[in-house]
Amino acid sequence: MLLLITLTAFLVSCVVAAKPPQDPVDRTCQLIKDYHCDFFNPDPRCGTDGVTYSNMCQFSKAHCQVRELHVAHDGHCMTSGLGPGTLPGGQAVYDFFCKNLEHQQCGTDQEIVCGSDDVTYTNLCLFEKARCGNNSLTVASYLACPN
Ligand SMILES: *[C@@H]1O[C@H](CO)[C@@H](O)[C@H](O)[C@H]1NC(C)=O
Repeated sequence: MLLLITLTAFLVSCVVAAKPPQDPVDRTCQLIKDYHCDFFNPDPRCGTDGVTYSNMCQFSKAHCQVRELHVAHDGHCMTSGLGPGTLPGGQAVYDFFCKNLEHQQCGTDQEIVCGSDDVTYTNLCLFEKARCGNNSLTVASYLACPN
């Protein structure tokens, strides 16, 4: 009996762990990882690591690997005058993600999300679109909202 309870608790914790991460940047990074950066127009950004990224897609992928990476300035890196980051990397990634999402159709996939605004979203894409317009929106649960 005890074994059964333990096993059930273990299985439940696995299911919870398999849900998409709550941290906004983590979730955004999960989606950005599938982007093909070659499809994005050149739009160089200089990173605080002194590397020129050919567009925000490339920068975003790099930031997702190294969270201390920020945007030093627009355009190519120059040999001098790096200075501190002018735009926090997480913010830059999120702005890029939202701008890109504007042009995307969310489709009709059923992947119910209840937002902290008490709105039931049919899928995570629709939820993300809403969150791009309201930073304070979070996932309340992966069920329909109670009315
Ligand atoms: C933003 O989301 C919060 C819930 O996280 C909600 O209370 C608030 O009303 C929303 N604001 C707008 C403008 O929709």
